[in-house]
Amino acid sequence: MLSIKNLTKVYSGHKKAVDDISIDVQSGEFVAFIGTSGSGKTTALRMINRMIEATSGQITIDGKDVRKMNAVELRRSIGYVIQQIGLMPHMTIKENIVLVPKLWKWSQEKKDKKARELIKLVDLPEEYLDRYPSELSGGQQQQRIGVVRALAAEQDIILMDEPFGALDPITRDTLQDLVKELQKKLGKTFIFVTHDMDEAIKLADRICIMSNGKVVQYDTPDNILRHPANDFVRDFIGQNRLIQDRPNMRTVQDAMIKPITVGVNETLNTAVDIMRRHRIDTIFVVNNQNKFLGYMDIEDINQGLRGGKELIDTMQRDIYRVNVNSKLQDTVRTILKRNVRNVPVVNNQDTLVGLITRANLVDIVYDSIWGEGAEEAQYEAERNEAEQSKQQEKTSAETTVNENNASHDDTSDSGVER
Ligand SMILES: Nc1ncnc2c1ncn2[C@@H]1O[C@H](COP(=O)(O)OP(=O)(O)O)[C@@H](O)[C@H]1O
Ligand SMILES: [Mg+2]
Repeated sequence: MLSIKNLTKVYSGHKKAVDDISIDVQSGEFVAFIGTSGSGKTTALRMINRMIEATSGQITIDGKDVRKMNAVELRRSIGYVIQQIGLMPHMTIKENIVLVPKLWKWSQEKKDKKARELIKLVDLPEEYLDRYPSELSGGQQQQRIGVVRALAAEQDIILMDEPFGALDPITRDTLQDLVKELQKKLGKTFIFVTHDMDEAIKLADRICIMSNGKVVQYDTPDNILRHPANDFVRDFIGQNRLIQDRPNMRTVQDAMIKPITVGVNETLNTAVDIMRRHRIDTIFVVNNQNKFLGYMDIEDINQGLRGGKELIDTMQRDIYRVNVNSKLQDTVRTILKRNVRNVPVVNNQDTLVGLITRANLVDIVYDSIWGEGAEEAQYEAERNEAEQSKQQEKTSAETTVNENNASHDDTSDSGVER
């Protein structure tokens, strides 16, 4: 555990840049420091590995005071990633990855092994190790290398100071996913500085909101969104953040609907019957423990029937699914990004417990983005409509306003009971 107690920094002749902050960070936790520019985030971060010496207060790592550790030992246990994660153009990918291990004088064998392990971790081929950064396709692959490089020296704690600040939104989003995935997989402690609340919410287990060198609130994203400590935090979160105004809609569980299923041992004709009865165009396949196995759409079934196949050989198995406890916000983002229509919701045992459709998500998204404003606008529109039809009734008794009641029958919905 990393424990910060009454930490203060006064630069000579200045006001307090960091003013008596105390927080605990558990091992394996992802903590984001967030605040306006000049609030003391970088200073606080750099005191952790003693790049900046504290004026007063104490920092301990697993009970050991960092001031009593020698600098080498300390930096071995703490990695630091600065603002950009650019690669050295004149070094191969391998040389780039093992930059810090080289400083620690690792053996060639150990460095090679580490480089191979890390490139695998970011899903790039081993051949790339001998290439130069300019030979990698696109900035994204280079960025991925930049991220794993931070992990090369095997430190337990990684400090990152706005590493994605300068990236375009899509690259940023992908690298955030990567960082989060690596952090979960490797169980390291991350302390991450950002000024982007979306980034903090997406990545952090706990968020530390700073203002004028002080900690205003230190809590989980959920608790901060539900119970902002004061107006500063409320403003900081922003008025129209997705979902935040609907604290009861936080996880996938809150938004999912009941899926229609067919047992894997049933026939294709039974599947057709069920689909016809429920008026759906795709159906989920489960075993008798309700474990999620796959799905079929009408086209799959037609092909299966024509080919005289069994249901089990007809269903598609490889589908994107979400865990019932995942954050709704992340799921919305993924569904929009991947352009998928229906996403099965499973629990940790891969049991099918629900369904998120693009259609029902869209409702939630609109609602939370435009919220009350949208309701007012709609009310306004309805009133105008009513006014207009009254006028019309007056002028001509025959005129009707059927267009306004045109039904919006969306036949593309699926797995949804009507
Ligand atoms: N080396 C320095 N000397 C004097 N003042 C500094 C120095 N570094 C930072 N500061 C001041 O300390 C405060 C906090 O800075 P910093 O930690 O960089 O904030 P942040 O990272 O949140 O933008 C600011 O008022 C800044 O001007
Ligand atoms: Mg800074």
